[in-house]
Amino acid sequence: KKISIIGVPMDLGQTRRGVDMGPSAIRYAGIVERLERLSYEIEDLGDIEIDRAERSDEENIGNLRNLKAVAEANERLAAKVDQVIQSGTFPLVLGGDHSIAIGSLAGIGKHYLNLGVIWYDAHGDLNTAETSPSGNIHGMPLAVSLGIGDPRLTNIANYTPKVKPENIVMIGARSLDEGERKLIKEKGIQVFTMHEIDRLGMAKVMENAISYLQKRGTDGVHLSLDLDGLDPHDAPGVGTPVIGGISYRESHLAMEMLSEAGMITSCEFVEVNPILDEKNKTANVAVALMGSLFGEKLL
Ligand code: ARG
Ligand code: MN
Ligand code: MN
Ligand code: MN
Repeated sequence: KKISIIGVPMDLGQTRRGVDMGPSAIRYAGIVERLERLSYEIEDLGDIEIDRAERSDEENIGNLRNLKAVAEANERLAAKVDQVIQSGTFPLVLGGDHSIAIGSLAGIGKHYLNLGVIWYDAHGDLNTAETSPSGNIHGMPLAVSLGIGDPRLTNIANYTPKVKPENIVMIGARSLDEGERKLIKEKGIQVFTMHEIDRLGMAKVMENAISYLQKRGTDGVHLSLDLDGLDPHDAPGVGTPVIGGISYRESHLAMEMLSEAGMITSCEFVEVNPILDEKNKTANVAVALMGSLFGEKLL
């Protein structure tokens, strides 16, 4: 049982400063010790290099903010994740804004014939340059991974798509742009919005999500967890908070059920911004959730 930690101090996929310190905040919150206690062997591979030069408007290509630097960092991340999976260890990616899911999935996708993805998020992250209200690439990684968007993003690691729409499950959605709604319907993506979580309860939602992916015959499942999927009351240190989110307790239950199902083969925790946080609360929540995901039990 070996886990490889990869930090990605990325903040170029959006405009709030500080999310580049997410990996440090999560390490400071004790991720290594927490997982070692569960008797995993932990290898911290350090951080992926990000081009830190201050961005100017010239870096915004079309409606894609910092396209070149985001694409380059994701290319490096994809290579690193690829290496980790080849060496047979579990990749745990720490963000950084959600644009890094482009690189994670690019590194993971080629190792599976039928990869599943759980997208735990307030948002769809299904925008393209054409549909994005912000030009922020952190609102686009799921579309990119489906092969939809600018080729400089969709072709990272030299293949596309990374995942099939019918193998995606979204959990916690409560803020979707018009183009994202259209894409969800067009592609038949399975979504459990806050409405389903309220109505059915998290236990039933996770049961349904897990059995959906099992019926799809997935040979691996990547968990992409955006801390803004949680309610801002429990996870205030995020750049795009949306009221009315998933609670801390519900999130623990979700992680415990994924742990019991034994289906997660890679994961990332993103959008932790210690500058916007309250005494590192959000990084602490992230570490607590990783504890549950990796099998922590009270008794
Ligand atoms: N939908 C909005 C946009 O495209 C917000 C995206 C927020 N994404 C995130 N990973 N926090 O700009
Ligand atoms: Mn910055
Ligand atoms: Mn989000
Ligand atoms: Mn997101």
